Amino acid sequence: MTQPKLAVVYYSATGTVHAMAQRLAAAGEKAGAEVRMRQVAELAPAAAIASNAAWSRHFERTKDEPKAVPDDVVWADAVLFGSPTRYGNVASQLKQYLDTLGPQWLQGLLADKVYAGFTASMTMHGGQESTLLALYNTIHHFGGVLAAPGYTDPLKFVDGNPYGVSHVTGGANDIPLGDAQLAALDHLAERVIRIAAKLNA
Ligand SMILES: Cc1cc2nc3c(=O)[nH]c(=O)nc-3n(C[C@H](O)[C@H](O)[C@H](O)COP(=O)(O)O)c2cc1C
Repeated sequence: MTQPKLAVVYYSATGTVHAMAQRLAAAGEKAGAEVRMRQVAELAPAAAIASNAAWSRHFERTKDEPKAVPDDVVWADAVLFGSPTRYGNVASQLKQYLDTLGPQWLQGLLADKVYAGFTASMTMHGGQESTLLALYNTIHHFGGVLAAPGYTDPLKFVDGNPYGVSHVTGGANDIPLGDAQLAALDHLAERVIRIAAKLNA
């Protein structure tokens, strides 16, 4: 059986979604997949980044990491997209990446892959589910196989998000990922890889 390929493609301004992506990548490798973890390009003006110390720090720390290109999705059997919640929606940086995939979409190169999403927001009812549902509109257009986690494991009753995996960062935007989120991220990576391996077989 061929080794399943997992792409983790994400945007993160202040590091939370980046930490989620790292956990997914590690879980994917542990589950036997070949993994590409790729951040999408930053689009915000320098002045906006400079106005936020955490954003500036994260930008400097990650600016030389490999950037997502269309082939990262074409290459993969399973794709996990991550975005901070922005007004209950997908960050424009990730949306811009998705919007560059028109040629691949037109050729049917994005279809029949396994997809799911992850997000973070500052507040508990701040729009995590609407962000994931907005992201999933695009997956329908790809002809992707949406593998939302549902409540397919008892641990999903603890993290509580059947639409994907999400984390609340709190008012100071600094609450680290807890055991419930880490377990849910591991579960999400294992699940999409398991389903992709079945589709490949
Ligand atoms: C423009 C903007 C819009 C945001 N909208 C929301 C929102 O709708 N709900 C919410 O709870 N947090 C919102 N936040 C907070 C971010 O979602 C939170 O800081 C983010 O999840 C942290 O992820 P990151 O560290 O990966 O950037 C917003 C932040 C910005 C800058």
